Amino acid sequence: MSEHTGKVIVITGGASGIGKETALQLSAQGATIVVADFNEEGAKQVATEIEATGGTAGAYKVDVSKGDEIKALIDWTVEKYGTFNGIFNNAGIGLVKPFLEMDPESYHKVIDVDQHSVYYGMYYGAKKMVELNVRGTIVNTASIYGSVAAVGSFNYNAAKAAVVMMSKSGALELAEHGIRVLGVAPGFIETPILGNDKAMKDALATQHMRGELIQPEKVASVVTFLFSDAANAMNGTTVAVDDGFLS
Ligand code: NAI
Repeated sequence: MSEHTGKVIVITGGASGIGKETALQLSAQGATIVVADFNEEGAKQVATEIEATGGTAGAYKVDVSKGDEIKALIDWTVEKYGTFNGIFNNAGIGLVKPFLEMDPESYHKVIDVDQHSVYYGMYYGAKKMVELNVRGTIVNTASIYGSVAAVGSFNYNAAKAAVVMMSKSGALELAEHGIRVLGVAPGFIETPILGNDKAMKDALATQHMRGELIQPEKVASVVTFLFSDAANAMNGTTVAVDDGFLS
């Protein structure tokens, strides 16, 4: 039996990048995965890929910035798979603008998708686990930019710093229910969120100790570990997968 056999785990942003690779790795270790994403086609493709290798996965279209949709996602998961053992609150966007052009719409857009979504996933996820008497795990995607300011990223910096603190605060209150809350803070990961500007990506890569962008599989393997019982002495912390950027 694999480490995650019998667990049902929801992954937001599961259609692409870090979420997709985490879906593949957790399912390879036995977990049933709900691939939740705004991109319904992409989510279906990942679920199909998992099922083709003998795993179990479902796709669900969700806008993570809407609390009622996250609640419905978790209810659907329990209805379809009978239980719910964890959520990877990972969907996110960037919207880079100089601060003096950071109008309320641009600010709120990123706060809604990158920060409020994490609260919704934690709140509805933890309530469901308590209701089901499940001792589960919540992992939230933060960023190195939750600790370090970046030009043009006021909205993103604010959201990701909040996610780091939400993981600590949630862990503190949910420990008595046997629910762990953890975070992951990726460095510069080679996914579509970085865009197609090669010069910009090369410049980001030089900020890593090895001088390369990090592959999403590397973040996924850390997240897969955080969901495991082997990590049960870890709680509240956000683990950097940044090739030394923050060091
Ligand atoms: P990605 O662009 O490959 O994946 C993000 C996924 O989130 C996409 O499938 C997209 O459809 C989904 N999504 C976006 N808005 C959504 C919404 N409102 N509702 C539901 N789904 C939505 O990017 P990546 O890199 O895999 O990003 C995952 C997380 O990692 C994000 O939270 C991002 O901020 C974070 N991150 C990424 C870094 C990088 O360099 N790639 C660095 C640090 C953090």
